[in-house]
Amino acid sequence: MLEHGGNMQQACMDYNRPLETWLDLSTGISPYIYPIPAMSPALWHRLPIENDALLDTARRYYQQEHVLAVAGSQAAIQALPHLRPHSRVWVLTPAYAEHAHAWRNHGHAVTERDRLPEINELQNVDVLVVCNPNNPTGRLCSPTQLHAWRQALAPGGWLIVDEAFMDATPENSISAQASEPGLIVLRSLGKFFGLAGARVGMVLAAPGLLDQLREWLGPWTLSGPARQIATVAMADTDWQDVQRRRLQQDINRLNTILQAANITTTGSTALFSYWQDPRAADLHTHLARHGIWTRLFARPSAIRLGLPTPAGWAMLQQALQAWTTMRQASAVDETDAQ
Ligand SMILES: Cc1ncc(COP(=O)(O)O)c(C=O)c1O
Repeated sequence: MLEHGGNMQQACMDYNRPLETWLDLSTGISPYIYPIPAMSPALWHRLPIENDALLDTARRYYQQEHVLAVAGSQAAIQALPHLRPHSRVWVLTPAYAEHAHAWRNHGHAVTERDRLPEINELQNVDVLVVCNPNNPTGRLCSPTQLHAWRQALAPGGWLIVDEAFMDATPENSISAQASEPGLIVLRSLGKFFGLAGARVGMVLAAPGLLDQLREWLGPWTLSGPARQIATVAMADTDWQDVQRRRLQQDINRLNTILQAANITTTGSTALFSYWQDPRAADLHTHLARHGIWTRLFARPSAIRLGLPTPAGWAMLQQALQAWTTMRQASAVDETDAQ
C-alpha cells in the first residue's frame, strides 16, 4: 500500500490526539463539500440505473461526447495497465504515486521522469502519464505541449492526462479533445466538489478504448446514490462558479499566510500549495504537534498543504507564527554561538 494524504488514523496514533481535534490539510480535497441532495430510498434499494442522466450531464460538463463513469479515477488508474501488452511507460514525477505503482504492478517497464521529456525522446515510449495540474508540485503543462508529446509517442502510444485537479481552471483542460487517438483524460469528483467519499471519476477517451475499459470494469461500477450526487453536482453551474471564486480566494490567503512565515511556495493549484524544503520534516512535525496534519514528501524533501476549513485558518496562522518565532530564536542562537 502506498502512503496517501488523509491518513488520519496514523496521525492520531503517532501524536496521541483524538480525530476530531485535527485540522487535516494533508489532502487536496476542497473544504467546501457539494451539498448532498435529498435522495429517494429506492436509490439504495434497486441496482443502479446505467442510462440515467449522469453521462449526458458529464458530456456537457467536460464538453466531451465520449465519457465513462468509474468508481473514482483510481479505478481507471488501476485498470488501464491491464489493457495493454508489455509497454514502456514514462510517468512524470513527483506525482500521484498510484500511476507508477499500477503500471509496475502489472509488469510494464516504468521510468519515473523528473524532467519534462524532449519530443525526440518519446519515440520509444508507449505510454506517457502526466498529472495536469500536477499533484503535488502544481506544475501545469499547456495543451500544445501535451498534444506534441502525444504525437511523438511510439505508434499506438497513449498519453494519459490525469486532470483530477483541473476543475477550478477548466480553461486549461484538454477534455474536449480527449477522443483523439491515443489520448486518455482522467477526471475526479473527489477534489473540487469535495466528494472523495462518493468515489466518482470519469474517463474521457476514444469510444473503442472506453468499450475495452467498460468491459474490464464490469457493470455497476458506481452506486445509485453516487450517480445521483454526481449528476446534480456536475449540472450545478451556479455552485461551481461560487466554488471557483472561493477556492481562488482561499489559496491566495494560504499563500499570503505562508509568505508571512517566510515560506515561498514553489507550486499551487486552487486546492493546495507545495514547496521543496530540506526542513520540510521539521515543519510537518511542528504543525502536527499543533494538531495540523500535512502531507510530507521524502524525495525530494517537500511539503503540501491543502485548504483549511473556515474554522481552521486561525489554528494554522497560530502554528505558523510559533514556527517563525522558533526559527528566529534558533537563528539568534546560531549567531551567538559563532
Ligand atoms: C492526481 C490524482 N489523480 C487521481 C486521484 C484519485 O482520485 P479519485 O479516485 O478519488 O478520483 C488522486 C487522489 O488523490 C490524485 O491526487
